[in-house]
Amino acid sequence: MKLLKPWILVLVGYLLIKFGTPLAGSILHPGTWPVVPSSVMKMFVFFMVAGALLVYSFSEEGYDETIAPIVDLYTKPGRGGLRIGVILAVGFLGAYVAYQYVKPTFDAPVELRSVHPAPPSAAKAWGKSYNLQTLKNPLRADTANFAKNSEEGGKVYYQNCYFCHGDMMLGKGPYAEGFNPLPANFVDIGTIAQLTESFVFWRISTGGPGLPSEGTPWISGMPVWHTLLSEDEVWKVIIFLYDYTGHKPRVTAPKKH
Ligand code: HEC
Repeated sequence: MKLLKPWILVLVGYLLIKFGTPLAGSILHPGTWPVVPSSVMKMFVFFMVAGALLVYSFSEEGYDETIAPIVDLYTKPGRGGLRIGVILAVGFLGAYVAYQYVKPTFDAPVELRSVHPAPPSAAKAWGKSYNLQTLKNPLRADTANFAKNSEEGGKVYYQNCYFCHGDMMLGKGPYAEGFNPLPANFVDIGTIAQLTESFVFWRISTGGPGLPSEGTPWISGMPVWHTLLSEDEVWKVIIFLYDYTGHKPRVTAPKKH
């Protein structure tokens, strides 16, 4: 019977945390019933089990008693059936836990992802370093060739970006469904309409791997385009993105001196 003691203690502790905490919360803040997150619950139960085992196996006598059922199970004759049962159960439990961990899920991760994280001050691409604070689209000044540049940007778009971002730039290309986060919808005012061209340049040339840690935990499928396109092609596709959607790139106000 002594053996049951640690487990009764653990059970009492569990019930106290599970129901005592919300009860205390509801008394302190009437009308609420705060729940204990399951991760915290797991941690408490782990520490309670470990603590109870430590305390009860501290003396030699206690130790023998604590492990007695295990020793019995493995050494007593006539327990063969139970022994096999326990070994199989432990194996299946391990398999079940492992399966739960790796099982794919279609739910969005609970953590939030910053869609437009603050860009680094400098970005590396094509073996060069770009200062994103001062970087401008060199093709903007070339108004004479604007239509031609936009048309060439369109070619770059339909040969490379269309598959994910879609023929109408709504982020609904044939491969789009396979990504989480979904490819950006450039028509929506939440994307390029509120970004500077240097930000867009940074995002295109360094892709998902270029995102800082705030851009995680969802793994962005946006490719690293500086390895596949030329710098000129990226500036052209940016001209095309704004030209097609009718959005104006965001401009940063000139610094007051
Ligand atoms: C394999 C699919 C895929 C292809 C191909 C692709 N993208 Fe993306 N792109 C994504 C995904 C997914 C996101 C959203 C996640 C993110 O922000 O990184 C994204 C995001 C972006 C963003 C960021 C928009 C914002 O609001 O921050 C830009 C700009 C962009 N893509 C431009 C392009 C351009 C230009 C091309 C072609 C040269 C291209 N993409 C090709 C998947 C793709």
